Amino acid sequence: MRVFVAGATGATGAVFVPLAAARGHELRLHVRPQTAARHAFGQDPRAQVLDLADHDALDAAVRGCDAVVSLVGTMRARFGAGDTYESADIGSTRQLVEAAKREGVSRFLLLSSFGAGGMGAYLKMKGECERIVREAPGLRWTIFRPAALVSPEGEAGGAHGKREVPAVAVAAGALMRRLPGLRDMADDWRPIPLEVLATAMVAVLETPRDNCILSGRDLWPLGGA
Ligand SMILES: NC(=O)c1ccc[n+]([C@@H]2O[C@H](COP(=O)([O-])OP(=O)(O)OC[C@H]3O[C@@H](n4cnc5c(N)ncnc54)[C@H](OP(=O)(O)O)[C@@H]3O)[C@@H](O)[C@H]2O)c1
Repeated sequence: MRVFVAGATGATGAVFVPLAAARGHELRLHVRPQTAARHAFGQDPRAQVLDLADHDALDAAVRGCDAVVSLVGTMRARFGAGDTYESADIGSTRQLVEAAKREGVSRFLLLSSFGAGGMGAYLKMKGECERIVREAPGLRWTIFRPAALVSPEGEAGGAHGKREVPAVAVAAGALMRRLPGLRDMADDWRPIPLEVLATAMVAVLETPRDNCILSGRDLWPLGGA
C-alpha cells in the first residue's frame, strides 16, 4: 500500500514509520522544510520535503497514494515557535483532506485523542479536526483516539522528545481494568504504548475500518496487546 505520512518526524512517526515499512508499505514521509536539516528523515529517500500550505507540492506528494495518515499535532509549549492548534492541527487536517480530495486518495487515517470534542482548547481543537475529516464528502476515514502515548522503553525519543507518563498512571489503568464492568472504560483511559498504537494503525491500513472512531478498547486488541 502506498501511504503519505504527515507528522512522520514526531514521536508517533518514529514508531509508526519503521513498523509500516517492515510490513512492506511504500511510505512517503512528510518533512517540513524547517525540520529537514535536523531530522534523519530529511535525508531519507522517502522524504517529501514541503510545506503543507504549498498545494501543488502537496498534491504531487499524495498523488497515487492509497491513504493519507496524519500524525500531526502541536502542544502549547510550542506556540512560541509559531505552531498553534489552529495552524498545526486544524490547518494541516484541512490541507491534507483537501489534497486527498483533489487527488482522489480515498482513505484518511487521523490520529486524534481520547476525549476529542470535550472541554478545553485542546479537546475542542481535536473535535474540529475530526469534524473536518468526517464531513469530507466521499472520504473513507478512520479516527484514532488514544489516551496518553508512551514511547518505547530505551528510546531516546524524536526531535520533540520522548512520550512518557508517570508510572502511577500505568498502574492505575491496569488496576482499574480488573474491576468488574470497568475494563472497556479503563482501556479507553489508560496510557498506550506507541508500539501498540502504531500496530493498530497499520492493522487498519491493511484491513480497513471505514468511518469508524477507534478508542483504547479497540486499539489495544488491534495493536496485539
Ligand atoms: N502525546 C500524547 O500523549 C498524545 C495523546 C493522544 C493524542 N496525541 C496526538 O497524537 C498526535 C501525535 O503526537 P506526537 O506526540 O507523536 O506528536 P509530536 O511528537 O509532537 O510530532 C508532531 C508532528 O507534527 C508535525 N507538525 C507540527 N506542526 C505542524 C504543521 N504546522 N504542519 C505540518 N506538520 C506539523 C511535526 O513536525 P516537525 O517535526 O517539523 O515539528 C511532527 O512531525 C498529535 O496530534 C497529538 O495531539 C498525543
